[in-house]
Amino acid sequence: MTTGSRSTSGGEALRFRLGRELDDMAEAGTLKEFRVLESPQGPKATLRGHGEVVVLSSNDYLGMADNPAVVAAGVEALERYGAGTASVRFICGLFEPHLELERELADFLSTEGSLSFVSCWNANHAVLDALCDKQTHVFSDELNHASIIDAMRLARPGSKKVYPHSDTEALDSLIEGAPDAGLKLIVSDGVFSMEGDLAPLPELVELAERHAAVLILDDSHGLGVMGETGRGTAEHFGLEGRVDIVTGTLGKALGGGAGGFVAGNRELCSILEQRSRPQLFSNGLPPTVAASARQALEELRGNPGLVATLRANTAEYRRLLGEAGFEPVEGESAIVPVIVGETAEAIRISKSMLDDGVFVTGFGYPVVPEGTARIRSQISAAHESDHLRAAASALKRAAAS
Ligand SMILES: Cc1ncc(COP(=O)(O)O)c(C=O)c1O
Repeated sequence: MTTGSRSTSGGEALRFRLGRELDDMAEAGTLKEFRVLESPQGPKATLRGHGEVVVLSSNDYLGMADNPAVVAAGVEALERYGAGTASVRFICGLFEPHLELERELADFLSTEGSLSFVSCWNANHAVLDALCDKQTHVFSDELNHASIIDAMRLARPGSKKVYPHSDTEALDSLIEGAPDAGLKLIVSDGVFSMEGDLAPLPELVELAERHAAVLILDDSHGLGVMGETGRGTAEHFGLEGRVDIVTGTLGKALGGGAGGFVAGNRELCSILEQRSRPQLFSNGLPPTVAASARQALEELRGNPGLVATLRANTAEYRRLLGEAGFEPVEGESAIVPVIVGETAEAIRISKSMLDDGVFVTGFGYPVVPEGTARIRSQISAAHESDHLRAAASALKRAAAS
């Protein structure tokens, strides 16, 4: 029996080309290494080859990934419904946990409805795909998440304009310059994932209302984090119910597994269900993930104090970094970036921190612009003071080494 495959000469040439690319990355010190977790994700986790480490690189903002009730809900759904429908939703149906999750999300966000997807990547793709035609004009913040950028490319609207980060005057002029006819969509992250800053939501809402545009907010890093009760960036600004379409992930604060959703009016959800490509051509969320995410929402609703704890932890970490001589990028979310310059330096610091028992990822080009590589820490309500102190000290040692 042969175990390897024999490639064509085209396949071999490709292998050579890709191999060279990987060698170049290794030489430049920019090759990413992938860590294997041998325990659940949490404020501390066990990494293969490194033992137990403090984690500041996950989006488990509320400690839901290993919350016993969240895990139990997933297990129960797995036992009751099995692994999944084994096809897409319109062909094979969906499970009760999908409906329960979608009702809960809509209720949580004060929208008429919501629709789940296997990821927020897919959810963003679905919205833009379903809403864009040659008469649609899309306006997108330059720092929007890659899923929005790619979704715009695939959706091929009549025009797409990228406005400078959070520059609402520039956005206003761009909208003014667009043809009167046709749908206008403004798309923004709620919390920007690499900077941790917030979208200027009051201005975006005002602009959308004045220009009769539709506002789409990807609040993946805002849900569970911003606002008194974790309802996100809109709650933070007192603008609940004023954002037309909210998209978000279930892979961060709301469970930590996977999945995404779109929340908005009933007609939007129905249209997405009827004809968005990720719904028509891709399986739905596994029921175990839907049940875990729904439980995570229930945990958050039952204990909104988690959000206050997260905020206090973030303030404490910023204070510790200041004491250690760092000036993190300003921001109100749970993302705390420290700019270190070159990509290789960010990778070196994060490796050195790992040797010191702290797992935090260095981000460099092309995820962020050249010269702005950073150590991005993400804080969780589950962190304890000792974890935060250990992380700040490890960063100080690594940066000085
Ligand atoms: C702002 C934003 N949108 C979308 C996504 C994609 O989420 P998912 O992992 O559910 O595809 C992410 C994940 O990094 C994100 O930060």
